[in-house]
Amino acid sequence: MNDFEAKLQAIVQRRSGIVLEGQKLTKAAQFVGQRHRGRSHSDSLASLEMNQSLPDWLISHLTINETFFFRHPNQFDAVREWLASRPNTDRPLRCVCLGCSTGEEPYSLAMLLASDPSVSDFRVVGYDIDPEAVSTAVAAEYPQHALTRTPSSYRSMLSQYTETVRTAHGERLSLKRTLKESVKFQVSNCLTEDIGSADIVFARNVLIYFAPEDRERLLRRVQRTLLPGGLLLIGAGELLPSSLKSQGGPTWRLNSSLGKGNRV
Ligand SMILES: C[S@@+](CC[C@H](N)C(=O)[O-])C[C@H]1O[C@@H](n2cnc3c(N)ncnc32)[C@H](O)[C@@H]1O
Repeated sequence: MNDFEAKLQAIVQRRSGIVLEGQKLTKAAQFVGQRHRGRSHSDSLASLEMNQSLPDWLISHLTINETFFFRHPNQFDAVREWLASRPNTDRPLRCVCLGCSTGEEPYSLAMLLASDPSVSDFRVVGYDIDPEAVSTAVAAEYPQHALTRTPSSYRSMLSQYTETVRTAHGERLSLKRTLKESVKFQVSNCLTEDIGSADIVFARNVLIYFAPEDRERLLRRVQRTLLPGGLLLIGAGELLPSSLKSQGGPTWRLNSSLGKGNRV
């Protein structure tokens, strides 16, 4: 790692929590070099250091927005189970998706909650650091193949809450207005954002970006944020640090995409 790469790595981690290593770091350094062509390395780094957040073009380069409707369907099954087992309450359910990408995950959750007769009211908020992904989420229009990519067990639910519209980009799948209105989005760094209290927190396939200490700090904050009996869902390959597993308090449930849900 050369000096420029080392300093770039430190700035990116400080501003976004994203850990850049190996090929990803080399490519990011080349990309910044191209964007700042003609500037010295120190000039280039100083301009990145100047702002509290990284420029949109760099965030978009660093993040992978892979997602689809009802991804890891057994986790959505776990949400259904959790809804069935929870004590009756008239209070609106508050749900949060960290690293929500282009919106398919929070909209899937909203569809599931809207279809559940035990849920009288709910709110879902999605947070993502990538402004481009969030503007796609807000537009809520997706290519037609989004339907075929959806696991078959949830395809009819997706059809119920979407309609086909003609746009400049051809036919698109558009979220129906009532559902769209129940989900809000915010461009923010989930490591520093105050997400308020929540019944359900999705933190799937986002923890992998962070250093172990940031991951643990975020999960501790989520643990304090979860209302009693609340549900946390993390990605299949992501593990809760053992120091958190032994804590009492709210229910934590880890559901891998491979196996059944575990209560931890
Ligand atoms: C692979 S996508 C996961 C999307 C969705 N959660 C899922 O599992 O389908 C990871 C997302 O995390 C976002 N992300 C990365 N670092 C973040 C941060 N510090 N704060 C908020 N979002 C972040 C990326 O922009 C990207 O959209």
